[in-house]
Amino acid sequence: MGYRFIDTAQAYRNEKAVGEGIAEVINSGKVKREELIVATKVFPANIRPKAARRAIYKSQKSLNLEYIDLMYVHYPAFVLGYSHKKTLGVFSELVDEGVINNIGVSNFTIKMMEDAIESCDKPIFANQIEHHPYLQQKELMEYLKQKNIALISYSPLGRGKVLDNILIKNIAEKNKMSSAQVCLSWLISKGAYPIPKASSFDHLKDNLAAGKLILPSEDIQQIDEISISKRYIHPPVVSPKEWSK
Ligand SMILES: NC(=O)c1ccc[n+]([C@@H]2O[C@H](COP(=O)([O-])OP(=O)(O)OC[C@H]3O[C@@H](n4cnc5c(N)ncnc54)[C@H](OP(=O)(O)O)[C@@H]3O)[C@@H](O)[C@H]2O)c1
Repeated sequence: MGYRFIDTAQAYRNEKAVGEGIAEVINSGKVKREELIVATKVFPANIRPKAARRAIYKSQKSLNLEYIDLMYVHYPAFVLGYSHKKTLGVFSELVDEGVINNIGVSNFTIKMMEDAIESCDKPIFANQIEHHPYLQQKELMEYLKQKNIALISYSPLGRGKVLDNILIKNIAEKNKMSSAQVCLSWLISKGAYPIPKASSFDHLKDNLAAGKLILPSEDIQQIDEISISKRYIHPPVVSPKEWSK
């Protein structure tokens, strides 16, 4: 269809199936390995340095890849043994060993980003965070832009909930777009990289087409002004404490 960026995680328990899918398209000659960006994430319970090393090699094996393009720390799970210095130290060694190409973090606050950057001898490539019109992440977005770190927007459709918003619907109608395309196009206008999940062919097609659509600036501004604030993903234990404030 044209998708080239794959987001998975040890937590999703589908790395083997994802690897099989990748092998199938590469073997068929439709796609070259170097055209793909394959990202996965270390499960929070594996985040102690030694366990992270084993888990990353296991991901590489399950995905059946020579290298993983982007390996994330899934959550800043300090309570489970995550350490900026030691865990990211292992990630950095694995870059040197050729197993991963880039180091990413997910669900990190600005303060955590600062500490991670200071602790790691290699650049942090991306922070993957919940990001949609109901969780606009303006400060974190500015910070990441300044540091030249990619913002990967997860749950970019607010798990489908934002699609019912009346303003989003009106903007969609006016521009002959779907509500999902409005959300994705708005995120792209911010310089972010949204990773929507879709399980039907129509949704997949609709979302991919959003990459080529441009929203008028007055519509972008109206979405910027939405005052609803909702975080849909907030798992216990591993989420940053700051989220509860
Ligand atoms: N790093 C993290 O901690 C973290 C946490 C959560 C998610 N993620 C990543 O982010 C991805 C997306 O997040 P998400 O699944 O939470 O939420 P989402 O992408 O915001 O929303 C998915 C929902 O939107 C619907 N949808 C998709 N495209 C649509 C379209 N064009 N029109 C109408 N409805 C549409 C889907 O329905 P259908 O399934 O019927 O198409 C599904 O119900 C995940 O797959 C995962 O890779 C990362």
